[in-house]
Amino acid sequence: MESNAGTWHGRAPGRVNLIGEHVDYLGGVVLPAAVNRHTEVTGRPSAEWAVESRVKGGVAYLRAIGEELGVQPQGVRVRSEIPSGSGLSSSAALLVAVASGLKPEMDGREAALACQRAEQRATGVQVGVMDQFASALGRRGHALLLDCGTLEYRMVPFPDELDIAVIDSGEHRSLARTPYNQRRREAEAGQPNRRRHVDSEIARVHAFVDALERDDFTRLGNLLKESHRSLRDDFEVSTPHVDALVEKAWAAKGCFGARIMGAGFGGSILALIERGSEAALKAAVEQPVIVCSTADGAFARANEGGRAA
Ligand code: GLA
Repeated sequence: MESNAGTWHGRAPGRVNLIGEHVDYLGGVVLPAAVNRHTEVTGRPSAEWAVESRVKGGVAYLRAIGEELGVQPQGVRVRSEIPSGSGLSSSAALLVAVASGLKPEMDGREAALACQRAEQRATGVQVGVMDQFASALGRRGHALLLDCGTLEYRMVPFPDELDIAVIDSGEHRSLARTPYNQRRREAEAGQPNRRRHVDSEIARVHAFVDALERDDFTRLGNLLKESHRSLRDDFEVSTPHVDALVEKAWAAKGCFGARIMGAGFGGSILALIERGSEAALKAAVEQPVIVCSTADGAFARANEGGRAA
């Protein structure tokens, strides 16, 4: 007899990071947003169901989050609108979706931390908590200002006039094959260029929030450009191909600014554009572009509010 007992569902969004790159694992402030591309998971405690996932390395992630939560998520089906390698954190969305399905009563912060540990365990990459936190606790209409040192956060309204565009550079990489851990160690050791990026980037996050609160889009764009230069020259996580695309985006009509997003070493580019100027951006960069808007995180409703950052 068919029984639905024990069947669970989870759903979580991908994320963008507006600004605050390579500072989360140093306890800095970051400004990501959950976005309207989701991963959905369904699971049944039946060994007959195989894991079906197109998220790269999906099985390792499922095993790792199961170990973190003390549950074995057997028989899991994964459906995702988030292309792997798109820069929208498909892996964080998968982990948070599973956590929200298996332990919906969990505190969003605890869930984000469990998902961060699972990601580290599955990949060996010492990632920070930003991606999982945004997927768990982002809010529609808002960016999430997160202090990664204290895990205090607050929502910052995101203007309707802006679209968030994510450009695929076409240079794909698995984080485990990049010098991510090395950059982290260099920054932790206080290597001067790395440190200069971290300090200036944290200052830019605060300036960006200020500009958002004033609807000063030109300033937002200039901060993205400064962030890119810092990631390129001081943190050295860009590539010549990405630099060229970023400069094409800067020149596109309706584009306020753009920068390499996420871990870097290829990957994706974030651009903030005037609503309706997607075609001009696509024509300028000649690469696939995903235009997205802000969304609720998987644990957002259950964890209403947030504490002041
Ligand atoms: C990846 C990691 C995050 C963060 C960014 C860089 O996305 O998962 O924790 O460190 O890189 O800002």
